[in-house]
Amino acid sequence: MHAIGIDIGGTKIAGGVVDELGNLLRYERVPTDADDATAIEDAIVTMIEDLAGGERMPVGVAAPGFIDAGQSTVYYTPNIPWRNEPLRERLESRLSLPVVVDNDANAAGWAEFRFGAGRLVSDMVMLTSGTGVGGAVIVGDRLLRGGFGVAGELGHMRVVPDGIPCGCGARGCIEQYGSGRALQRMAGAIADAGGIGAGLAKAREYEGGVLEGAVIGRLVQEGDPGAVAAMSELGSWLGQACSSLGVVLDPQLFVIGGGVASAGDRLLDPVRRAYADHLPARGFHPEPTFAVAELGNEAGAVGAADLARLHEDPTYLAF
Ligand code: BGC
Ligand code: NA
Ligand code: ZN
Repeated sequence: MHAIGIDIGGTKIAGGVVDELGNLLRYERVPTDADDATAIEDAIVTMIEDLAGGERMPVGVAAPGFIDAGQSTVYYTPNIPWRNEPLRERLESRLSLPVVVDNDANAAGWAEFRFGAGRLVSDMVMLTSGTGVGGAVIVGDRLLRGGFGVAGELGHMRVVPDGIPCGCGARGCIEQYGSGRALQRMAGAIADAGGIGAGLAKAREYEGGVLEGAVIGRLVQEGDPGAVAAMSELGSWLGQACSSLGVVLDPQLFVIGGGVASAGDRLLDPVRRAYADHLPARGFHPEPTFAVAELGNEAGAVGAADLARLHEDPTYLAF
């Protein structure tokens, strides 16, 4: 059975038709304005109609926020103005297709588990670093949803008591230290400090005063010392978070996704170092491996489609 997956991000909506092996048969992307919830809903409807082309298939919509256990309501999105939004009902009333709503990082993590970096393990934790920090937890081959549907909101794990305020209303969440936005902030501070920040400062001036993630990423690839230092700071925050998560969940694998994943080992090495530095009983038990996501930007759409298929036919995966 083919299924449609839609991935709603802070800056774009992506969607595709996905087969049972996780292949994208069609794929579309449109930019969005994160502040305009109505425009986002309209764009989703247009994209689904276009992808379905009149055929009946299940639809999975991945949204960047807290989703209820019934896969219907968006309780809260830190980076889009949705509050108790009955998204499934709204979409189903405008479409003649069955819709389920899932968390974006859960969808991406599920895609990695089924078809990507995690296909050989049973227990995996994924962190996505983009506008926010998302999380997905796979335990014993299953996606952990929790008692109310909102398990795996790993971006709001507290790493700094009374730290930087977060879009969720709390302070000191890993989202404020491990997201793409945090990377921009760290790179900006390194640029301001001069010294190894010279390359970043020059790029910032050239780009008209902003350091986009992609520019930092390119400088990291080139080995620019300031950009590498910023990436290393980010990795070290994520690694600390992983060591706390490891104590609770004992996964065989941690996967880091989102734009920063393109930095590869320049991200993973500091993640591994910080993990090891904070790991209890180090050397006396097996340790997980760390990998960057394999499915790239399409993971959310692929995973959302697969979760919709699973919802439509719970026997689809026989384990
Ligand atoms: C939200 C998560 C989401 C993540 C990535 C966080 O701020 O709380 O639900 O998965 O951002 O988009
Ligand atoms: Na999640
Ligand atoms: Zn938070």
